[in-house]
Amino acid sequence: MNPLEEPGIPVEDQFRNWSELNVDPYDKMEVDPYTRTRVILMNGIEVESIIFSHQFARHTDNLEIKRALATSRRVDAQQQKVVNGLNPGDQTPLETTIGYEQVAVDLTAWLARHEPDPMLKQALDFALLEDFDHLYRYANLYELLDGKNATDLTDHLTEITPGRPTIVEHRHPADEVRGHYNTFTVDPLSRMHVMTIIAAEQQTMNFYMNHGTDWIEPIARGLYAEIALIEEQHVTHYESLLDPLDSWLKQLVFHEYNEAYLYWSMLQKEEDRRIKAIWELHLNMEIGQLHAACDLLRRFEGVDPEEILPPELPDTPVTFEPNKQYVREVLASQVDLRADGLRYVPVDELGSDHRYFRYQETVNAGGVPSEQVIEADRSASGHEFRDETEGENPIVDLREPVATK
Ligand SMILES: [Fe+2]
Ligand SMILES: [Fe+2]
Ligand SMILES: [Fe+2]
Ligand SMILES: [Fe+2]
Repeated sequence: MNPLEEPGIPVEDQFRNWSELNVDPYDKMEVDPYTRTRVILMNGIEVESIIFSHQFARHTDNLEIKRALATSRRVDAQQQKVVNGLNPGDQTPLETTIGYEQVAVDLTAWLARHEPDPMLKQALDFALLEDFDHLYRYANLYELLDGKNATDLTDHLTEITPGRPTIVEHRHPADEVRGHYNTFTVDPLSRMHVMTIIAAEQQTMNFYMNHGTDWIEPIARGLYAEIALIEEQHVTHYESLLDPLDSWLKQLVFHEYNEAYLYWSMLQKEEDRRIKAIWELHLNMEIGQLHAACDLLRRFEGVDPEEILPPELPDTPVTFEPNKQYVREVLASQVDLRADGLRYVPVDELGSDHRYFRYQETVNAGGVPSEQVIEADRSASGHEFRDETEGENPIVDLREPVATK
């Protein structure tokens, strides 16, 4: 499918009324966990498009471009309401959080499995293990605070067990900045992978920024503060992979193209017919928005969109599916990796005077919520919350202490 050859819906015809925007939410007991993850991802994609468009508008003095941005952005803002409105009000912020980390695990693992560039695959694998660990920490918080079982949400599609422990994820900011791909040689698929994961991580960062104070319990507030800072690291990590040489208009075209690719992807696996119709409608809207962006690129930069876009969408849709063996392999081989400038190195290769250790000493002084939550759940329930469907954790040190099993 080549979105440039599809008619789509003209942007001016895309506005919807309040009752169309105020959609019925899904039933949290009935929903397919991967429908929840699709909703979370596409909300993050829309939020990125909106914020990007606002930033662009602040960097251009061209009235025509500003008006075109305002128009497409208004539609993106409407789309965001529809997508996020699918979340039901009885889904607590912690339940949504568990959904966010399930997105992070199964989206990142899927992207890594399909990523052609080894440098970008390594970046995905690196952060994958960290979000995998967050899922385990929040699942323990869920049992501790609510007495509930996180597998009611994940449905055993994603394992719950320690990854790279959150306590060791805290790195000096200078070690979060990576080298970037080259916009002239990058595989179009890689560019979309990077844009997609940035949007997802950014939305997770935003969600924890705003929901970390929804609790009275200090352990919950502390855990959100700690993991929110890792999500900020992840945004820094992933955004540094982008080539900053792309003009604002090219970036706009890439955003619309990626939105079209993702709605097309979500549509392929969606079994809820009502939600599938939303993905389909939004795909046709994004195609219309893509045409509008391409028109600006042609007129104001003299660049044909065909020069910078692939001749058709990738064959494979971005898919939410279990990635259990893949995550285990990455965990087994990379749990000890740390970042050293632009490189990833095993922790025992870092000199004892490395800034990593100084940063660790600073932030981890006086107790670490991601450890405390596990200890608290052990003492409250006599065990840790885990869902190891494929056997014990591949790392011996990360297996549950026998005494607490
Ligand atoms: Fe959109
Ligand atoms: Fe995370
Ligand atoms: Fe993350
Ligand atoms: Fe869009």
